[in-house]
Amino acid sequence: MDFYYRQGHEKYFVSRIEKYGSTVVRINVPRGPFMVLDPRVVALLDAKSFPVLFDPSKVEKRNTLGGTYVASTTLTGGHRVCAYLDTSEPAHAKAKQMLLSLLHSRRDAFIPAFRSNFSSLLSVVEMQLKVGKGKPVDFNKLNDVAVYDFLGEAYFGARPSAFTPDLASKAGKWLLLQLCPLATLGLPMLIEEPLLHSVPLPPALVRGDYKALHAYFSAAGAAAIDEGEKLGLSREEACNNLIFATTFNSYGAMKLLLPGILTCISGDEKLHKKLAVEIRAAVAGAGGEVTLAALERMELTKSVVWEALRLDPPVKFQYGRAKADMLIESHDAVYEVKKGELLLGYQPCATRDARVFGDTAGKFVADRFVGEDGRKLLRYVYWSNGRETEDPTVDNKQCPGKDLGVLVGRMFLVQLFLRYDTFTVKVTNGPLGTNVAFTSVTKAPAA
Ligand code: HEM
Repeated sequence: MDFYYRQGHEKYFVSRIEKYGSTVVRINVPRGPFMVLDPRVVALLDAKSFPVLFDPSKVEKRNTLGGTYVASTTLTGGHRVCAYLDTSEPAHAKAKQMLLSLLHSRRDAFIPAFRSNFSSLLSVVEMQLKVGKGKPVDFNKLNDVAVYDFLGEAYFGARPSAFTPDLASKAGKWLLLQLCPLATLGLPMLIEEPLLHSVPLPPALVRGDYKALHAYFSAAGAAAIDEGEKLGLSREEACNNLIFATTFNSYGAMKLLLPGILTCISGDEKLHKKLAVEIRAAVAGAGGEVTLAALERMELTKSVVWEALRLDPPVKFQYGRAKADMLIESHDAVYEVKKGELLLGYQPCATRDARVFGDTAGKFVADRFVGEDGRKLLRYVYWSNGRETEDPTVDNKQCPGKDLGVLVGRMFLVQLFLRYDTFTVKVTNGPLGTNVAFTSVTKAPAA
């Protein structure tokens, strides 16, 4: 009740830190008894203890993606996909290599695909603001469609909406079935508890939706599936991995990332001005084109994206099981953990650690990562399940979309500030992140 309703996720953990005077605590976490047999975890709630979760020699990540709760493989075509595999399982390296190769081979498609999909999105925002005479325009709803189309076009050269018009909403339904044990949808507690948090919802509810996803991925993703086959995966394993990595890992996170960035920079006209100046100068310097080199020169823009990922990481819970008896250090103490115990890192507590980020740890500081001293702090940014100064490989569990996640954040800011001098939004709490609605946009003179 504290976790979902009385306190919410963040206060739940912060109040335990205060109560026990410790940032490493043994606690119970939801879900309920019919969903998990053992709710006990060791929570890691500071920047020093959290990184033990990145070390594959110390923690086992087999089936720990959802922590105490393991979703049915019926939801993934009967296969255990990359994110559920430990590095010691041979299929992990094959599936991760397929994804790393896909992202590498499609790198030139990212900028044009993002620009076309988000330019259309912003045109719709403007049109709806005009027609509605300033009535707020729901960004999340438009973003849900634009991001899925962007991902399909970027990875496979084919927009999902052109294949099946409502594929993004089918993807959202499939996602919801897996994420609802963590979410509160705002319904009365007496309805939500038995419905969402007590027993797993039957995968049959989304059988038809998954079939439609499978049809798109097996057609559009044929080249990537060929590559997976060469690496030793069956075609079905490769296809189900593509569905999961695109829909759960990429789409699930990006549905939250962009509203999160908008929330962080909302209401700060001075920052909008600085971003517009930096972005327009870098693009002009590249002959009016948005290029990777131009994005690289945008110091403040880069810092804003990292700061949003630090303050409000889209994926907040990371788990791993102790491979052996071990000692875990916080800033102040050392704790004994036994082999087999489940470790839970609640990331916002680690990346808002005042012992690393000082008095402003809980605040959005746009230029925190600018300059040499600023960049030194990047090793404490953990959004990708690894340090921002390290890279994903087949031997670790760091997110293979690390560079793309940051790139998407930067491209979003570029798209906004090439087009607008400033804008205003209304922010409300949503089931897993923030809901953002545009209330006005002020066009750039040249736009
Ligand atoms: C802002 C966007 C993203 C965020 C916040 C994010 C976050 C994460 C996190 C926290 C994990 C570790 C999960 C765990 O083990 O508990 C992870 C793993 C993973 N992510 Fe991402 N991710 C993002 C984008 C992407 C993209 C674009 C891809 C595209 C391929 C991707 C694919 C994966 C995969 C396959 C794993 C499992 C890695 C492994 O098993 O070694 N993610 N991501």
